[in-house]
Amino acid sequence: MKLILALTALAVAAGCVGLSADIPHLQNVEGVAQLVVDGRPMLLRAGELDNSSGEPEVMAKSWKDFAEMNLNAVVTPVYWEVIEPSEGAFDWSSVDGVIDAAREYNMRVVFLWFGSWKNSMSCYAPGWVKADTKRFPRAMVPGPRPIEMLSAFSGECLKADETAFTALMRHIKEYDADKSTVVMVQVENEVGMVETERDRSPEADAAFAGPVPQALIDSLKARRDSLAPKLRARWLENGEKTSGTWEEVFGKGSATEEIFMAWYFALYAGKVAAAGKAEYALPMYTNAALIRPGAEPGQYPSAGPLPHLYDVWRAAAPALDFLSPDIYFTNFTDWADAYRIPGNAHFIPETLRSPVASVNALYAFGQCGSMGFSPYGINFISGQARELLGQSYDLVRQLEPLILSRTPKGDVAACVPLGPEQRAPRRIDLGGIRMLVTFQTVIPPSLADGVVVSGEARNAGATIPAGCIVIRLSDEEILVGGMGVTVLFSAPGGRAPAVGLKSVEEGRFDGAGNWIHHAFLNGDQTNQGRQVMLPAGRFSLQKVSLYRY
Ligand code: DGJ
Repeated sequence: MKLILALTALAVAAGCVGLSADIPHLQNVEGVAQLVVDGRPMLLRAGELDNSSGEPEVMAKSWKDFAEMNLNAVVTPVYWEVIEPSEGAFDWSSVDGVIDAAREYNMRVVFLWFGSWKNSMSCYAPGWVKADTKRFPRAMVPGPRPIEMLSAFSGECLKADETAFTALMRHIKEYDADKSTVVMVQVENEVGMVETERDRSPEADAAFAGPVPQALIDSLKARRDSLAPKLRARWLENGEKTSGTWEEVFGKGSATEEIFMAWYFALYAGKVAAAGKAEYALPMYTNAALIRPGAEPGQYPSAGPLPHLYDVWRAAAPALDFLSPDIYFTNFTDWADAYRIPGNAHFIPETLRSPVASVNALYAFGQCGSMGFSPYGINFISGQARELLGQSYDLVRQLEPLILSRTPKGDVAACVPLGPEQRAPRRIDLGGIRMLVTFQTVIPPSLADGVVVSGEARNAGATIPAGCIVIRLSDEEILVGGMGVTVLFSAPGGRAPAVGLKSVEEGRFDGAGNWIHHAFLNGDQTNQGRQVMLPAGRFSLQKVSLYRY
């Protein structure tokens, strides 16, 4: 039996999802933001290069691995110090080399602009910027003491960054616009103030004593009922003022200092983005270092593009199309969900390259409507993490047309355990079908010979990832892909009639969307017709036909 996965015509909703309206590469389909390349929506099965592997010669040894793992995109830095070694003299060989190689391997590129800030610091600023502290002042911490972070309050720093980024976008346009190898650009990297909530330089102090900019006030008023809860509470509790200093409008305290700093970081990054977009309007975003439990602003990079500061960033930086999380914590779903904000396109530029990344990718694409997913340090991934990511990306590649066409209709969902210690079953309702998903995270006897987990790891009590994506084709037919889960079907609300398995078939989609049969599953493999079971330790795709009795 064949199932053709023709991409149904996508009804593009009017307006935008809070994305800049003039960006031709992002579309909003029923509230789901999609990346459009060469006129078609696509999902980025990506990986991010480690910080010092973004030059063509270093990357050369990794492209084959990327292809083997079924990546279709790399996320990789462009270093300011490399492209502009002396002021105004640009060297594009590193950029062109990456683009050329990506084309050879039929991959897309997301460039990371390591400009003024990379993980708060300014280590990628060229030497001529670093050394001229008079022209390019630094942020300060209490003391006062300068740190190696360019000041967000310096017009000269901004101008130098804008100039370089503008040149970069102009060059990418000239070199690549006809081929669209480069599909998005990240502006700066994990911006945030360290050691303290906000810059303590005299310029920053003066701005802090000044009025809250009207543009922020206007935005607070316009978004009053949908503001991030903490921001809304601070504003309302302090009298919902429409003018005044930062402390008058938001009250005293470190939360206010963080809001203030977020505005000025975002203003700067947004101006850099706008300058680049004026040359070449690719989708642009910035990424956040997240908050360690219990950490205060300054202990974590304060004032970055975090969920509680979402409205501040969007108001100050309209040229940034969306904000993204770098998820290194084990409560992946909490952070992925925190960026499912109406109007924010979902993309995970960085995450841990652990075995669990393989199922987290399903959660991102299937549950969060992500445009892309990208484990960090992809050039160093190995062992089980590499094997499983490759299998997961193979599955996503097969399902891509269905994910893209059916997510906006509400026919796609995914689930993974909520954290390493949590195995509670998850419930999914799609149309007239309810699914109860349980996870098999301990190593089953069928893997006793160490198919994916060595005997040593098993004895040490190692667990394996579990999770699935489900796609409803109709109330009679559903696709379940992933591994290590058992799915029990019923009608929503447990109503009669009961839902039975008419047939369960394992297979795969070929490149043209045809279903290739592998085996009918029954007996032990469906718990005698009672459940769909995706084996632990390897990814499987099953087409399930249902009946009622
Ligand atoms: C997050 C940063 O954005 C990356 O560039 C890298 O430094 C990773 N942390 C891990 O080291």
